[in-house]
Amino acid sequence: SILIVDFGSQVTQLIARRVREAGVYSEIAPFQSAAAAFERMQPKGIILSGGPASVTTENSPRVPQHFFEAGIPILGICYGQQVMSAQLGGNVIVSGDGGEFGSAFVEVKSPCALFDGLWAEGERHQVWMSHGDKVDAIPPGFTPVAVSTGAPYAIVADEARRFYGVQFHPEVVHTPDGGKLIANFARHVCGLSGDWTMAEFRETKIAEIRAQVGKGRVICGLSGGVDSAVAAVLIHEAIGEQLTCVYVDHGLMRAGESEQVVSLFRGAYNIPLIHVNVEELFLSGLAGITDPELKRKFIGKTFIDVFDAEAKKLGGAEFLAQGTLYPDVIESVSFTGGPSVTIKSHHNVGGLPERMNMKLVEPLRELFKDEVRALGRELGLPEIFVGRHPFPGPGLAIRIPGEVTKERCDILRKADAIYLEEIRNAGLYDTIWQAFAVLLPVRSVGVMGDGRTYDNVLALRAVTSTDGMTAQAFQFPGDFLPRVATRIINEVKGINRVTYDYTSKPPGTIEWE
Ligand code: XMP
Repeated sequence: SILIVDFGSQVTQLIARRVREAGVYSEIAPFQSAAAAFERMQPKGIILSGGPASVTTENSPRVPQHFFEAGIPILGICYGQQVMSAQLGGNVIVSGDGGEFGSAFVEVKSPCALFDGLWAEGERHQVWMSHGDKVDAIPPGFTPVAVSTGAPYAIVADEARRFYGVQFHPEVVHTPDGGKLIANFARHVCGLSGDWTMAEFRETKIAEIRAQVGKGRVICGLSGGVDSAVAAVLIHEAIGEQLTCVYVDHGLMRAGESEQVVSLFRGAYNIPLIHVNVEELFLSGLAGITDPELKRKFIGKTFIDVFDAEAKKLGGAEFLAQGTLYPDVIESVSFTGGPSVTIKSHHNVGGLPERMNMKLVEPLRELFKDEVRALGRELGLPEIFVGRHPFPGPGLAIRIPGEVTKERCDILRKADAIYLEEIRNAGLYDTIWQAFAVLLPVRSVGVMGDGRTYDNVLALRAVTSTDGMTAQAFQFPGDFLPRVATRIINEVKGINRVTYDYTSKPPGTIEWE
């Protein structure tokens, strides 16, 4: 295995992800508890992450010194390279020119095990730099093997001890060969076999869940989405009937989704599931509300009330399971306390654990969306579930600008189902991040047969994105949108005009509210 020592970089999890992609098991330990993790894991290699501190300041984080005497390979990235240099007798300075940020090129000066079979002498390769400090003198035993304009020590190596330092970030996608460099370190330099799989992740997590929960009871709120479903199935595999799932059905789901959730859990997996149908409660509470934030707040609060009441009926539980993913973790870390404004109040069950005095079980915390999908497939979840586009917690309520009524929900559900059916038939579902329809509070005049119509306008939206933070409108092939528009207008009573939303994010957001 590989131990990743975390010095607080925003992208440490990406290092773990690259190591997983290389088929090697890794664990991340914060630098304060790295020594204990080392003892327990007996790793075959160590990666030191980047981080916001400066080695030049007093009390900046350090690597436990004995790691350097363990006889195993070490790769230091950015701060990791600097701290290694400082601890082994080199020197680090604050760059006079303020540092280097963004794309840069490194030129390979001599061969190195780190890029054996990948990069050759004299070649130039694109990398991503992001550093204020830099190594100014390398420790005894090290030689520079690649340079960049801003960093004479872009890559340094002590081949005898198998210590490597890179000033750039190989873990981010902007370093095109970065994944291969990390794989080379894990397999070629550390000699690990690269046969670790999602199947083993599943086994490891099952053992961890059992250790954490013991004989305790766990409640899991299902949202209908892939994350909570995968978390629930995994936890059920670990602790069986100690898990109860609660599906708060607010009636704002898309066509067929609630039925799918219920039949999957009760039927295919036989997981205890409480299906609370509270459509009436939600719709009556939403009556008269047109402000997007008020809708979101009402739905979030009511959801928590209902969930809380169901948990009490069950006699409570010590643990609350959530399908939190790594991007949710970084977002909440980097946004707390910052000066950022609230664009939208995202609906989640945050607040619940404190209110109900429960501990959290979050087995997906270190995974990215596509890895959760891979784990879901490993657990045998059907493709229709695993490949599903993200769907917001407040559901269709935020896709109906203006007042939400049962009638408008039904119209939207029908139109949305036709749109998605056509997308699936055209083989486009998996290339799109998210596609959905929005029912506008606007009526337009039309003519059907010989009669005048005065009906609703529908907007179609489809975007590509990698993480939902930014997005581009999807460009459909020529005849696709006209065909969908015709079908919707012919088949859905109440809609007589269809438009397509070309706005990217930013300046738009993906959802309309
Ligand atoms: P926006 O509209 O902010 O959406 O560009 C970004 C992504 O988040 C989803 N979304 C939500 N997901 N609860 C969720 O779980 C919410 O309240 C919520 N609001 C938006 C949205 O569908 C997109 O994938």
